[in-house]
Amino acid sequence: MSRHFAVFGTPIAHSLSPRIHAAFARQTGIALDYVAIEAGHDDFAMHLAAFADNGGHGANVTLPLKESAFALCSNTSERALRAGAVNTLLRDGDGWRGDNTDGAGLLRDLTQRNGLDLRGRRTLMLGAGGAARGIAPTLLDAGIDALYIVNRTAQNADALADLLGDPKRVHARYLDDLPALGEFDLIVNATSATRGGELPHLPMSMVGRRTAAVDLSYGEAAIPFLAWARANRCHDAIDGLGMLVEQAAGSFEVWHGVRPDTDLVYADLRAHTDSLVTAD
Ligand code: ATR
Repeated sequence: MSRHFAVFGTPIAHSLSPRIHAAFARQTGIALDYVAIEAGHDDFAMHLAAFADNGGHGANVTLPLKESAFALCSNTSERALRAGAVNTLLRDGDGWRGDNTDGAGLLRDLTQRNGLDLRGRRTLMLGAGGAARGIAPTLLDAGIDALYIVNRTAQNADALADLLGDPKRVHARYLDDLPALGEFDLIVNATSATRGGELPHLPMSMVGRRTAAVDLSYGEAAIPFLAWARANRCHDAIDGLGMLVEQAAGSFEVWHGVRPDTDLVYADLRAHTDSLVTAD
């Protein structure tokens, strides 16, 4: 019998998650259905309860609901607890168990697919929302040097820095401080700003000899930041498509106990998203 899965968020119509999980299901011979459900802060709890009533077994949660999902869980994994954010829900009795596969997904993509060594990298993370929370503990565990968090709303950067509990390495700073912060070896755009085409002003002085620029978005949303990275001669300019596939594989493993192979699925999505961006 087919088990029910979904991804919740807004906007969700163009989510690639149903396509990814259908491909993993074919590859592993596991019967499942996976749909996208539009939900915002106000109606997420209601939609999730209806999904559970209809036999929902597991779900992904994306922008802007990862912190709300954390609050709705009856229990969480250690990595979700450290992040204070959840991207993977698993039905657990009458409640939900929350997990977070974003950090591990990003790490796999950067180190295995793109061959980056993160150790010792002086890092800037733009954003302090659900996506930023998911990846920050993993970057610290991977051995980055300092982590500077810069966010439009300064309190959210402060709150994330406090949660991470590593005051020697983690520093919250204002957007206006960027020109004075020096060079970074890794710059991660974890904001949703560029979905509206907006990019905060980013000074060229942040770019050094080996700077890797990484946008957690993909497709059109990643264009402004990656265009900035290329124009300013960053050593690497990497979008979030690989992370998307790897975090999905992590969720699949949480739900089904099997880790699917991601390379063919990634290649298919790369061709698909490139054709969409070119067509626009
Ligand atoms: P996600 O799951 O993608 O992190 P989110 O939790 O809604 O989604 O967080 C969005 C992030 O993008 C936040 O860091 C947000 O900044 P605020 O904390 O100030 O809201 C950031 N963001 C969204 N729109 C932005 C904009 N136009 N300029 C700068 N930052 C923006």
